[in-house]
Amino acid sequence: MATGTSLSHVFPLGSRLNERGHVEVGGCDTIELAREFGTPAYVVAEDDLRARARAFVQAGREAGHEDFHVVFASKAFPCTAVLGLFAEEGLWCDVASAGELHLALNAGFAPERILMHGNAKSVSELEMALRARIALIVIDNFDEIDRLARLLDVVQSAHAPGRAESVRPAHVPAGRTVHARSGTGPHAARSSQDVLIRATPDVRGDTHEKISTGQADSKFGFSMADIPAAIERVQSVAGLSLQGMHAHIGSQLLELEPFRREAAALAQIGSGVGGFSIYDLGGGLGVAYTEAQHPPEIEEWVGTVVGAAHEAGIPPHARLLVEPGRALTANAGVTLYTVESVKRNVFTWVGVDGGMSDNLRPMLYGAVYEAHVADRFNPVGAAGETPCVIAGKHCESGDVIVRDASLDDPRPGDVIVVPATGAYGFAMASNYNGVPRPPVVFCKDGDARVVVRRESFEDLTARDVL
Ligand SMILES: Cc1ncc(COP(=O)(O)O)c(C=O)c1O
Repeated sequence: MATGTSLSHVFPLGSRLNERGHVEVGGCDTIELAREFGTPAYVVAEDDLRARARAFVQAGREAGHEDFHVVFASKAFPCTAVLGLFAEEGLWCDVASAGELHLALNAGFAPERILMHGNAKSVSELEMALRARIALIVIDNFDEIDRLARLLDVVQSAHAPGRAESVRPAHVPAGRTVHARSGTGPHAARSSQDVLIRATPDVRGDTHEKISTGQADSKFGFSMADIPAAIERVQSVAGLSLQGMHAHIGSQLLELEPFRREAAALAQIGSGVGGFSIYDLGGGLGVAYTEAQHPPEIEEWVGTVVGAAHEAGIPPHARLLVEPGRALTANAGVTLYTVESVKRNVFTWVGVDGGMSDNLRPMLYGAVYEAHVADRFNPVGAAGETPCVIAGKHCESGDVIVRDASLDDPRPGDVIVVPATGAYGFAMASNYNGVPRPPVVFCKDGDARVVVRRESFEDLTARDVL
């Protein structure tokens, strides 16, 4: 491929082959990045994250729904720098645990832009959400309603006149700038907590069963049959204010039709009670992990979801939320590895210095990626390439990053670039085999900066209590 050539849509926006024939991301030469920061390393093009955030927001405007907001599903890349960037871009944030709530607040999201999800929220997680006064708790089950009812009594009495108590969530370090609604004393008392009810609309999209959530037997949300009882129960709790409905039908969906059926199901629930003020249609827009994949564009997806909401009868004055995760971050990132060994038996095995500890997705649900040698780049399947398997370094036969790779004469010392690793890689990383987790390096206009350092061996023993 000629130098100066832009790389495919799988790579971060603006990626290209530079004059030296090296893959360049965010204006930075990946061979130089590997030299400077070591491998494995997560490399993220900052401008790409911003561009996708802006595309979602702009698409909402163009779809003509005034009260439309983009909620980043923080589980996709729960890293302070990423969260802070999206907070700056005016996005909202969804969290699925107290830890994610801590990260979101710490990164600068105002509580009134935070939603909490979860099918098994603990008392302490709900308490933290109430005290932080987040915008919405998305109720998943009847037990959670009872739990919230009991907690609201406790939290409100703690804020009753004369009881001075900080609203700083227990896990937020003192001294950090944290958005929390008004301080202490009588004005801190909140008359109610806004909530959504999570519906399971019995819509199944074409995706891996482990990331399909909208079907009737899902562990998430209330079945359609239980929704009337859930609404009644929520409305019977004085401290809960039901604002609307939520659904998330699954992830890595490449077709638009299931989203139309989802909107219709949510609209149908609302029609029985004269419409709600908030409808949250979840995330799920798929991304290209390989050049051959062509998911819907952000504009197309937002247009479809908003259009479907209108057609289905969701009131035009209602607040519409969408919760993309991977569509905001996956293609903004690449992972750099170094080849440690090349061996041939039935296959050619290219062993690299990372694997399932930095990217669990291939092992977890057979996720497919492509790979390239950073300084001998060829399009996937180009003539003369060596068909090979890119294997991780871990003690599991299933630890394979790319099963059907084709590389130009791979050798030990080569730097390998795997694109589209910006979602759920960092999030699911582990220390399996005592491997320290990789750094996150932000690149922009040719400048690179570490936003999460590489773990050290000391980190591996930091939690020991001996
Ligand atoms: C409730 C909810 N919203 C949004 C998302 C984000 O999904 P995706 O990354 O596929 O957009 C998820 C993913 O698990 C989810 O559970």
